[in-house]
Amino acid sequence: MSPRKIIIDTDPGQDDAVAILLALASPEEIEVLGITAVAGNVPLPLTSKNARIVCELAGKPEVKVFAGCDAPLSRPLVTAEHVHGKTGLDGPDLPDPQMALQDGHAVDFIIETLRAEPAGTVTLCPLGPLTNVATALQKAPDIVDRIQEIVLMGGAYFEVGNITPTAEFNIYVDPEAADIVFKSGIRITVMPLDVTHKALVTKPRNDAFRALGTAAGVAVAEMTDFFERFDKEKYGSNGAPLHDPCVTAYLINPDLFTGRHINVEIETASELTLGMTVADWWGVTDRAPNATFMGDIDADGFFALLTERLARL
Ligand code: BDR
Ligand code: CA
Repeated sequence: MSPRKIIIDTDPGQDDAVAILLALASPEEIEVLGITAVAGNVPLPLTSKNARIVCELAGKPEVKVFAGCDAPLSRPLVTAEHVHGKTGLDGPDLPDPQMALQDGHAVDFIIETLRAEPAGTVTLCPLGPLTNVATALQKAPDIVDRIQEIVLMGGAYFEVGNITPTAEFNIYVDPEAADIVFKSGIRITVMPLDVTHKALVTKPRNDAFRALGTAAGVAVAEMTDFFERFDKEKYGSNGAPLHDPCVTAYLINPDLFTGRHINVEIETASELTLGMTVADWWGVTDRAPNATFMGDIDADGFFALLTERLARL
């Protein structure tokens, strides 16, 4: 089977970085057509720089990286330096990128790529706020029917929220964008906190990354070392959740995940629950299903896959 063509839309972020490394290490299953940066964990100048740092860490400076939207559709940007550090990639000491950003806006790259490739052959993989993707859908509604699937990290049901008591960060930062995406009719697969909070980087898993002895393996160990200081204290767990790589792992081995095809609506009005993913997990409404909302992960299988693939870089 030929590899699945994807565009990674991202706000690196250490966990975004690991998701990108996993994709770039898996050319049999995944062809990365381009990486589009969006403002999220840190502002756009940093996310678009970090995406290039990660490509170079993977030894793939030829990957196209575009800068996209620098703020949510209709709200001021909320960032997460308290989790990811000032640069967004705190932890390892990585050199500034040599590769240039591509000319043109990320949103136009998304639109042009979807129009150029055969319909139904390109998957979008958002790992940050959904601003770039929603802007593309608004600017070019014809691409809706051309997208194979959107596989995204965002939202929560049982785990409720991480940036507010009821909202997950990516959806909270741009709830209007998320609302557009979830109402689009596009096939959507969601990796919510319910899954990613089970993908914990325990000490043995971190040791396995470091033991690879490669630049990528050591950098991933140092990245997870950095953000686990925050997460372990917050959750009292024995490791920090590795959110975004669940998206790229799903593309390689969907059997690692289980979930339900359900209705998911985005709260955009309430001050108290802004950005909540109102997921009808128990089927208590007659609202039509619009997303496959994952609930569980084979965490050992996930980390085995990740370590095996990182070893290839
Ligand atoms: C999501 O928010 C960001 O901090 C992470 O990169 C991930 O995409 C988790 O809520
Ligand atoms: Ca992210």
